[in-house]
Amino acid sequence: MTVAFVTGSSGLIGGESVEFLADKFDRVIGIDNNLRSYFFGKEGNTEWNRSRLSQKYKNFISHPVDIRSYNDVEKLFKTYGTDVKLVIHAAAQPSHDWAAKEPLTDFSVNATGTINLLELTRLNCPDAVFILTSTNKVYDAAPNLLPLKELDKRWEIDATHAYYENGIDETMSIDQSKHSVFGASKVAADIMTQEYGKYFGMKTAVFRGGCLTGPNHSGAQLHGFLAYLMKCAITGNHYQIFGYKGKQVRDNIHSFDLVNMFWHYYQDPKPGEVYNAGGGRYSNCSMLEAIDLCEKISGKKLSYSYSETNRIGDHIWYISDVSKFKKAYPKWSYKHDLESTLVEMYNNMANRF
Ligand SMILES: NC(=O)c1ccc[n+]([C@@H]2O[C@H](COP(=O)([O-])OP(=O)(O)OC[C@H]3O[C@@H](n4cnc5c(N)ncnc54)[C@H](O)[C@@H]3O)[C@@H](O)[C@H]2O)c1
Repeated sequence: MTVAFVTGSSGLIGGESVEFLADKFDRVIGIDNNLRSYFFGKEGNTEWNRSRLSQKYKNFISHPVDIRSYNDVEKLFKTYGTDVKLVIHAAAQPSHDWAAKEPLTDFSVNATGTINLLELTRLNCPDAVFILTSTNKVYDAAPNLLPLKELDKRWEIDATHAYYENGIDETMSIDQSKHSVFGASKVAADIMTQEYGKYFGMKTAVFRGGCLTGPNHSGAQLHGFLAYLMKCAITGNHYQIFGYKGKQVRDNIHSFDLVNMFWHYYQDPKPGEVYNAGGGRYSNCSMLEAIDLCEKISGKKLSYSYSETNRIGDHIWYISDVSKFKKAYPKWSYKHDLESTLVEMYNNMANRF
């Protein structure tokens, strides 16, 4: 029997992984205790996605287990042993604003939860491929020191800079900058995942996401910016922009394109590797540009206001350079650009809200 483990299986990336893997493995085992609803209230509730996936895929079994509990997760690993060929670890506390409220909770989910999974993989199925969805927040503050220019609707890096053509690559330092509590707990998970590859020789990989997005994100004010923005456009809820004149730029990768990266890695794993994984130059926008697009697609004016105070740790301009991954896996390419992703999101959400 072949088994794939997916943590955070009711969330955006975990859920997309379940859909992607259901016809490729005999069983897909989900681990998700809906902690997102504790983090973000009812807007963050992911139970609807668990229920949708359970009905759609008969070989998907979801367990409401907390990744912080080594003993509970161990029972699942012991049940499936070496049948587990792939572990996609996408459960996390994902917001830097929220992390500052409860640093201990944030660290235990992001850092302790990750080492629990790595160690259980090492002890029970050491040949399995292990993938961590890390974040560009591990570079925190450093991107904000780049030479940026203010344009009409966005910040843009100076055209003479090495990052101008393709974006920020994996050589940017993750050391000696302010990370936010969340960035620091993700650094711990990121480095430990690399270490299990480099020290123990396991097939581990770290994907440092830009903004990850897709129609099945349970967007909340503190996390899931495009999904939350589109939701506000549809429902008429008010949207608040924090700082940088609304011109801060993020690259956005559709959850399918990211999980398809995982799949390419799974078929030819390179132990301990790190890849930046975002929409790159192919798919990015500023907040103001995203608002224009949401208004165009929904046909409604968004109600929003602007606060001068930026979020601590927010990037002013971040575009991921995915060249390292493309070079290693030349058959991978993007399938979803920004506008088609937003249209898909609109069509999906217009039925849900
Ligand atoms: N969405 C983004 O823009 C983004 C950007 C960069 C990196 N990431 C990273 O990608 C990963 C997935 O993000 P996402 O957007 O799919 O998040 P998400 O919140 O949609 O999904 C995460 C899921 O994990 C579950 N979970 C949280 N803590 C848990 C615990 N202790 N035990 C079991 N389940 C738990 C939540 O209930 C949720 O359903 C995270 O590691 C996140 O940090 C996300």
